[in-house]
Amino acid sequence: MTNATNAMTKTGAGTGQDVDRSEVEPIVAAFQGRQGAIIPLLQEIQRRFGYVPKTAVDVISEKMGVYPVELYGILTFYAQFYLEPRGKHTIKVCQGTACYIMGGKLLLDQLEEDLQVHDGETTEDGQFTLETVACLGCCGMAPVMMVDGDFYGSVKTNILDSILEHYREQDKQ
Ligand code: FES
Repeated sequence: MTNATNAMTKTGAGTGQDVDRSEVEPIVAAFQGRQGAIIPLLQEIQRRFGYVPKTAVDVISEKMGVYPVELYGILTFYAQFYLEPRGKHTIKVCQGTACYIMGGKLLLDQLEEDLQVHDGETTEDGQFTLETVACLGCCGMAPVMMVDGDFYGSVKTNILDSILEHYREQDKQ
């Protein structure tokens, strides 16, 4: 498949992608002086940008009087937060026992090769983030995967191309 790209890691710094302080400051200002504001503020930052940029951590640290190390502690503790931009679409490939036995590992290998990313990474074109999950709760349809909210059961490697293409086409509309 084409579109082979390098990946951006979830936690790697220095991708050069960040946001302007002026975009972050009004959001932080709205939470200043509130009790227990840090997590809701980080959630709002992520809702706004799709991840929590380094600039946002710097601004929150300054304005809210919290050390960056504490903020990164929260950000890495809670799985809901991301430190790097996410893809437009999130692919979750089940690697639970039933799916693994039924070919889930083959799906993961193929997706990693097609998209040139590993688990937790986002394609450089920003289109897809690839993740593995332990069980999606529908083992009878193994191997399964999800793209955003769409569920795919009994998936074979030869239909992955058309699944990905569906989302690429969707983005063109
Ligand atoms: S192991 Fe994949 S859905 Fe349960």
